[in-house]
Amino acid sequence: MKIAPSILASDFANLSAELNTISAADWIHIDVMDGHFVPNLTFGAPVVKAIRNHTDKPFDTHLMISNPEQYLDDFIAAGSDHITFHIETVKSPKALIDKLHKHNVKAGLSLKPKTPVKDIEPYLKDIDVVLVMSVEPGFGGQSFIEKTLAKMQRLSDLKKRHNYSYEIVVDGGINETTAKQCRDVGVDVLVAGSYIFKAKDRNERIQRLKL
Ligand code: DX5
Ligand code: ZN
Repeated sequence: MKIAPSILASDFANLSAELNTISAADWIHIDVMDGHFVPNLTFGAPVVKAIRNHTDKPFDTHLMISNPEQYLDDFIAAGSDHITFHIETVKSPKALIDKLHKHNVKAGLSLKPKTPVKDIEPYLKDIDVVLVMSVEPGFGGQSFIEKTLAKMQRLSDLKKRHNYSYEIVVDGGINETTAKQCRDVGVDVLVAGSYIFKAKDRNERIQRLKL
């Protein structure tokens, strides 16, 4: 199991130092919110660029923004290794997926808790990441919505059946208990914000989620 700490729950005044406390992380999860697609604001590409030189770990950029195509170049140039956008925000996902691949960036599609897997099925053969939101996007520290486990199971079944190569990522409300539930349905990567950053020993928390 890979672990992607979400810096949304970290101290924004000390991002460089915060990144040094999560050396056991596999990816760094970066939540970009626009106050339009979700009712909260975080930061944009300049902040991603600013922290790029402070860690070698892959940047997993999660765009919770309307019109992601408008900002794709900026987030690519800022040093994102993966860029995940929401299926609810685009009419032609294939164009964005192709553009990301052209720039050697991994392409991800995300689903809000109520969006069904069938909405992304035509693109599953092309993408590298499927991010299942297990809380309504917008805020850290919410409770895991158990109903979303069925979607992870479905994505895991489809992956096996068709030999797809995407990684199944879950985001929201992850702790030791929900991590086990996700592992049991075939999830590959756990995003966790508060569970990791609210603890003193962040690496110990990361190790616990890996079990
Ligand atoms: C929510 C974000 C998540 C969030 C998870 O919209 O996409 O990445 O940081 O936070 P926790 O782990 O606290 O639920
Ligand atoms: Zn996220």
